[in-house]
Amino acid sequence: MLTTLIYRSQLTPSDDVLPLDTLVETAKRNNTALGVTGMLLFDGAHFLQVLEGEEETLDALFSKISRDVRHQHVVEMMRDYAPRRRFENVGMVLFDLRLELPQTILDSVLRHGKLESYLAAEDRVFKFIETFATSERKARPDERFDATRWVLEPKTPPFRPPLPNILPDQMCQFALQPIVEPLGRTISSLEALVRSNNGGSPEHFFSAIPDDQIYEVDLQTKAYAFALAEKIGIGSHKIAINLLPGSLVFIPGAVDFLLEKVHEHNLSPEQVIVEVTENEMISGFGEFNSALKKLRAAGMGLAIDDFGSGYAGLSLLAKFQPDKIKIDREIVSNIHLSGPKQAIVNSIIKCCSDMEITLVAEGIERVEEWCWLESAGIRRFQGFLFARPLLNGVNDIHWPTFTV
Ligand SMILES: Cc1cc2nc3c(=O)[nH]c(=O)nc-3n(C[C@H](O)[C@H](O)[C@H](O)COP(=O)(O)O)c2cc1C
Repeated sequence: MLTTLIYRSQLTPSDDVLPLDTLVETAKRNNTALGVTGMLLFDGAHFLQVLEGEEETLDALFSKISRDVRHQHVVEMMRDYAPRRRFENVGMVLFDLRLELPQTILDSVLRHGKLESYLAAEDRVFKFIETFATSERKARPDERFDATRWVLEPKTPPFRPPLPNILPDQMCQFALQPIVEPLGRTISSLEALVRSNNGGSPEHFFSAIPDDQIYEVDLQTKAYAFALAEKIGIGSHKIAINLLPGSLVFIPGAVDFLLEKVHEHNLSPEQVIVEVTENEMISGFGEFNSALKKLRAAGMGLAIDDFGSGYAGLSLLAKFQPDKIKIDREIVSNIHLSGPKQAIVNSIIKCCSDMEITLVAEGIERVEEWCWLESAGIRRFQGFLFARPLLNGVNDIHWPTFTV
């Protein structure tokens, strides 16, 4: 299927004397042989390239181009399908913003391409070209967040080592995973993740529970999470628990039960954060909201988990603002490579900063993801990069350390 791919990238600093003409001549030859057409825009430091061709051919070419050391920070901006090419007979053409004015370049882009038939003013491809040609160039990204400059150093956290002994009738266990502020090297909280007694996933644990007992069981298991927090010596750190909204709505006295267990294990309600997932909050909003008021009145914090994965999205925040939002792992995975993901996260950051809601990015596995998110303004993170969950304890935390 005819595919259009747009990416942007930056000239590698050491390649300031890149012979662009040679690059473009080779590209033109290769592309013609591959049935690929397109254009390359350059402003002295940044590239924007449009490539069109069969999807598999483009994927292979783009992966080769992405690995080219002459440029870096390659970010895919757009991938779309079209009935016909915009740069029909052009294997590759270079437009150099150092040599011509943006308007002259845009005029020749229109002449080279078959953009008239695409009503250029409304065409996304042309709009990407126009924005690149006319906007102020941003300086190179903050060197502090160059992923190659960071190494991760494991440190033992200030908690007691794993304690496998469980109570005789305990239905499940918990694994703890820290949420951290890497630059300040602080632990914001420990999330308690439910596991079956043989270490199985939450899905595995809940699949063995009859439907009519799910909420009751969900609520009761939180007592083990608080007991574990006490056993490992949580001190003044916070503990985050996951709760199904139904457990608050349908189980009478749910908040009182939580409070009783919190006190029984020598914790304070202010140390507890209740995480609920976005999807589950949408049904029965009215009842859920009144249960939340009780929770908040008791002093417990509230976080929306997996934000961005469900249906309500940003409109949910108009009705209801939690203290914290955890951005879904799907949106942050490989964010350093994806323009659409970067745009979405930037808008979540702006929106939450206006509402003074703390953001946590979860599911971080790569140092590049952390670098991008940290430079965009997120401070709290959870993920395998920093620490994996550990049954009945807290794993070593890998803190990023800057190397000169
Ligand atoms: C900004 C930039 C754009 C490029 N565009 C293309 C292109 O459109 N087509 C292409 O074949 N190579 C392009 N290249 C070069 C490829 O990365 C790679 O060096 C080339 O395809 C290798 O060709 P070869 O397999 O014939 O050695 C580009 C390189 C850079 C830095």
